[in-house]
Amino acid sequence: MSNRGQTSPHLVNSSHWRDISLPRVTVSQVMQYEPDPRWFAQPASGIHGLGHEARVLIWTQILAEMVRQEGSSIDAAVLGWAAAVHDTQRSDDGDDPDHGRRAASWLDDHRSIIPPNVSLEQVIHLCRWHVPPDHLVPDMTMDLRVLKDADALDRWRISDLNPSFLRTASAQKLLRPSYALWTETASVCSSEQVFTRILGVAQRLGILADG
Ligand SMILES: [Fe+2]
Ligand SMILES: [Fe+2]
Repeated sequence: MSNRGQTSPHLVNSSHWRDISLPRVTVSQVMQYEPDPRWFAQPASGIHGLGHEARVLIWTQILAEMVRQEGSSIDAAVLGWAAAVHDTQRSDDGDDPDHGRRAASWLDDHRSIIPPNVSLEQVIHLCRWHVPPDHLVPDMTMDLRVLKDADALDRWRISDLNPSFLRTASAQKLLRPSYALWTETASVCSSEQVFTRILGVAQRLGILADG
């Protein structure tokens, strides 16, 4: 469902978000899930390329910690790998409703990417089901809710972020930081070293911690 133009102007215009207390997630924590540009079926410079995967990855790790602190069980490693792979098998930048299924299948053929201590089955589940609407998902786990919200927090780039669709209260708190990260990284998405550059911007903004 498209919601273009639904984003509140006060969010778009706000660059101040330092009053929000973010959990400590370090650059190296995020770096361990760095996607390889060769994984992408389409050029990794597109709107679903490395730049998008980097921002979604950052939000999965921050959301995972926020949700964990609120008492929910969450697997940050499963989320990290799912964020790194989830859009790699897109055939185009449109709806492409089967790209989650293809990502799951691709991952099943590239199992060695996922470390042995991480649940491959759960990473595949997240990739497979990150596309369909929530009511069509057979097992809407907290991990999947977090991945979908992290994915949604990068919809600033397509002017299509509707806050009322976010599933977790934690994601609601990340609207302004996610807007700041998008605006500060939009111009580097097709550049060399896009992944490390985006992590560097997140560090400079105070979204990621040193280390
Ligand atoms: Fe996707
Ligand atoms: Fe995505």
